[in-house]
Amino acid sequence: MKIAVVTGASSGMGQEFVKLLAEKEAFDEIWVIARRKDRLDALAASMSVPVIPLALDLSQKDSILTYQKLLEEQNPEVAVLVNGSGFGKFGAFTSISLDEYENMIDLNAKALISMTYVTLPYMKKGGRIYNIDSLSSFQPVPYINVYGATKALVLSFSRALNVELSERGIRVLAVGPGWVNTECFKRAAHDDTVSYYNRIFEPRDVVLRALRDMEKGKDVSVLGFSVRMQVLATKLLPHRLVMKVWVNQQKKKKNTEKIARG
Ligand SMILES: NC(=O)c1ccc[n+]([C@@H]2O[C@H](COP(=O)([O-])OP(=O)(O)OC[C@H]3O[C@@H](n4cnc5c(N)ncnc54)[C@H](OP(=O)(O)O)[C@@H]3O)[C@@H](O)[C@H]2O)c1
Repeated sequence: MKIAVVTGASSGMGQEFVKLLAEKEAFDEIWVIARRKDRLDALAASMSVPVIPLALDLSQKDSILTYQKLLEEQNPEVAVLVNGSGFGKFGAFTSISLDEYENMIDLNAKALISMTYVTLPYMKKGGRIYNIDSLSSFQPVPYINVYGATKALVLSFSRALNVELSERGIRVLAVGPGWVNTECFKRAAHDDTVSYYNRIFEPRDVVLRALRDMEKGKDVSVLGFSVRMQVLATKLLPHRLVMKVWVNQQKKKKNTEKIARG
């Protein structure tokens, strides 16, 4: 049985991956993972391929074990794994609770590594792994600090794993979008510390680009000229300067808003 596994499938980019993978390739089943079962059920009902909803909180170790047990029982070939579950919080470091940070690290970093680890025995030559990181993977980001650090881990992990797995013919792509029009903002924005979004992309475009970049053999996928320029800036300029520009952009926006509000 050939399957795709997509985490974060209840909304945003994860959900777009499910739709586009089903459009472009034949799978016996697509296993979709997130916490909101109603959303996963609705997605399954709307698809023409068999979609298996697995309502799991991946920040919990038990959920990874449940998934691992299912793999053991069904012994599928996992042709594609998309690690899309993740969340961020915008704000000054101490304005966000430690519980929230620990949960973020458990989901964005630990669960992504665990999902990859337990899935790999079921992948064969030609297998593909898409790990969603972020533009914030490329530089330290004040006020999105811990989130950016988890995403830097994802970028580093994914690129190194791609080299290691080349012997097995399995590819790993780090997908690093800028701002994307998803529910991510609802959970991330708890105050107006970060409120300047220069360009917002559509999730479908990010995923289409990622699928193309995987075909081309890339290890990093970045959509949009402005985002690519920002990545280039993080390579050419001292990170202290890049961070200063970012902080100033956010402050400037707040001043503008203040003026607009009178
Ligand atoms: N939107 C952006 O601007 C942006 C930019 C760069 C990178 N990203 C990254 O892209 C990825 C996808 O996010 P998105 O933008 O598509 O936002 P989204 O619509 O909020 O999707 C996040 C997904 O993660 C799932 N999730 C959250 N907590 C979970 C948990 N504990 N266990 C299992 N699943 C969980 C959510 O489902 P449930 O709530 O149902 O669990 C949802 O399906 C994330 O890793 C995000 O950090 C987003």
